[in-house]
Amino acid sequence: MTQIEHENQALNSEVPVSEGHRGVETFVALSFVLSVLATLALGVTFVLGGQPQVEGVLLFVILGGIGMGMVAWGKYLVPQGPYVQERETLKSELLERQAFLESLERGQRQLGRRPFLTKLMGGAIGLFGLVNLFPFLRSLGPQPKKALYSTAWTKGSLVVSPSGTPVTVDTLEIGGALTVFPSNDVGGAMSQTMLIRVADSDWTTKPGRETWGPNGYLAYSKVCTHAGCPVGLYQELTQQLLCPCHQSLFDVLSGANPVFGPAPRPLPQLPIYFDSSGQLRAQAPYDQPVGPGFWERGA
Ligand code: FES
Repeated sequence: MTQIEHENQALNSEVPVSEGHRGVETFVALSFVLSVLATLALGVTFVLGGQPQVEGVLLFVILGGIGMGMVAWGKYLVPQGPYVQERETLKSELLERQAFLESLERGQRQLGRRPFLTKLMGGAIGLFGLVNLFPFLRSLGPQPKKALYSTAWTKGSLVVSPSGTPVTVDTLEIGGALTVFPSNDVGGAMSQTMLIRVADSDWTTKPGRETWGPNGYLAYSKVCTHAGCPVGLYQELTQQLLCPCHQSLFDVLSGANPVFGPAPRPLPQLPIYFDSSGQLRAQAPYDQPVGPGFWERGA
């Protein structure tokens, strides 16, 4: 009898399921169930905000459960060798080849005898992969939704300094500049605005903006249209705003058109006016989104 025939005999023989095998099957099933439960607990932990120590323990239980189940399955439930194929002749006989194919099929049947454990193992691994999407999705941060299209500036917004002080006609000398915000969003990243006084009389930057620059005050978004850095440097001599990130220059007197650097469009101008009590207010919100032109890229 050849070695393959020995092997076939071993695989074909109907080995009765012993108590020991049943015990191992139970152990494997419990390992996978433990892993599934720990994975569900990990998902709940992610949803509730996460806790590194708890996540670490649960990961240990998940991977440990899958690992122990697979090791026990492979060690005690899969038929063991060693099976050595004899190599006297390189060309196998027809009968030997048939015997080999039968042996392969028998082996597959051996593995397929435990569909419950197979499904349980697949479920444990699949669920673990699914739950691991949570930290990935959480790392993307909150959705901006419509927040990128508008700011806190509205019609009538009171213009205030970073300390919350309302701006009046006398706040700036000619050539002065100040970062301002709407009174309901002091410190807001998207609302930050550069207020510059370029003259002591009304200033028109572009046709149609005759009322936007009362008493020489001009207000431009401080969020650079290139990559969103704060355009915080005002050069009075050249009447230009400079973005320190990539040196874009904006011409203040003509509507903050970019005259140098990578910025692709002007800084949006905020229409402003002085109310009857002398305080500066917004005539309307910005007439376009501030910052980099993300909405144009998909067009
Ligand atoms: S972010 Fe202003 S020039 Fe690049």
